[in-house]
Amino acid sequence: MTQPTSKFCFVIHPLSLDDVVRYEPGAAGKGAPIIRKILEWMPPWAAVHVTGVVTPDGRETEGWFIGAPLLPEQMLEFSRDAVYDRIVRAIEIGAELGAQIAGLGAFTGVVGDAGVTIAERSPIPVTTGNALTIAAGIQSLFRGAREMGIDASEATAVVAGATGSIGSACVKLIAPRVKHVVLVARNNTRLAKFHESIAGELPCGSSYTTDISAAVRRAQLVLTATSSTQDVIQPEDLQTGAVVCELSLPHDVSRRVALERPDVLVTEGGNMLVPGPNPRFERVREPGTEFDLNLPPRTALACMSETMVLALENRLECYTLGRGIDIAKVVEIEALATRAGFTPAGMRAFDTAITAEKIAATRAAARARGAGVSA
Ligand SMILES: NC(=O)c1ccc[n+]([C@@H]2O[C@H](COP(=O)([O-])OP(=O)(O)OC[C@H]3O[C@@H](n4cnc5c(N)ncnc54)[C@H](OP(=O)(O)O)[C@@H]3O)[C@@H](O)[C@H]2O)c1
Repeated sequence: MTQPTSKFCFVIHPLSLDDVVRYEPGAAGKGAPIIRKILEWMPPWAAVHVTGVVTPDGRETEGWFIGAPLLPEQMLEFSRDAVYDRIVRAIEIGAELGAQIAGLGAFTGVVGDAGVTIAERSPIPVTTGNALTIAAGIQSLFRGAREMGIDASEATAVVAGATGSIGSACVKLIAPRVKHVVLVARNNTRLAKFHESIAGELPCGSSYTTDISAAVRRAQLVLTATSSTQDVIQPEDLQTGAVVCELSLPHDVSRRVALERPDVLVTEGGNMLVPGPNPRFERVREPGTEFDLNLPPRTALACMSETMVLALENRLECYTLGRGIDIAKVVEIEALATRAGFTPAGMRAFDTAITAEKIAATRAAARARGAGVSA
């Protein structure tokens, strides 16, 4: 007989006005100030019922995505306590529905101390989901390098957002596989201190800068995980044939890259395929209607997947919180996710799947521009 598993909830929020319209088409045509005002006053609600998450060994979980409807910039502008209250209320709604562990989506895990205070105020354990996001991002970056024929051991890599929860762990995991790693963030004092604390233990060359354009111009590999609400990776800075793995939500990579740089491979690194014959993300208020995550079917963000894995494993603990993530947890959650049947999703960027043909075309464009990419 299979072991009973736990239930989960995951706090979501719109990353842009487009997301608001995708969820609520009636918002189309309303001005941005009105939408912002409505979001400001809207209480959290149970938006999505997730069912059919079934592991290869027959374990099953269900859960809810709870909307805490603030835009990223509102989460940064409003008083920290007002934002925490909104997120904790969302978790309480999940707990009332039966959830025993909560995950924090996008900026709900970024705001303030990255989940620590929220966990103290929450009725159930909380995780940011960042450990599995880190694991997925690293896999994706080096998969991109292989696809583009880049010898990672000779490459310079940039980590944008290097002092963050995700970025700081990525620096440590990328360093053993590259020649040089450049750490980028805005706060120079924090960046210098972090670099000083780890430089001695990194098995490759390392440097840091607050000048993201200068850093990107040096790199063949870029992993971006900033909490910026604006684009920070611009087409004119990218090297011919470079690979960019983007974990940030909202996106760090300018959409101009898709139009202007056919020779660069951009991949959203934090997506996973959910196990089970028919996993469903159903809108609570319109039963039978699928919630549009703006991802292909059966695909979830890695942070959502971490929350589901912990529920399936009955690991009802605050697994990933704060900004100093233990690499052992990244390794453990990746193994637990694999055992539970979660697999990296197909490569994707700018709302489009990256096919084998697209990769071949990107390599050809890089060769045409003179990159040392093999045929
Ligand atoms: N795909 C997924 O499944 C998934 C899961 C979780 C999180 N995320 C996303 O991943 C991103 C990072 O999350 P986190 O928890 O690691 O955030 P975090 O701990 O707050 O770290 C953010 C990092 O970005 C830097 N930063 C902010 N603005 C910047 C800018 N304009 N230029 C350069 N660096 C900048 C910050 O340092 P300074 O302040 O010094 O600049 C810090 O190093 C967020 O966008 C989040 O929504 C994605």
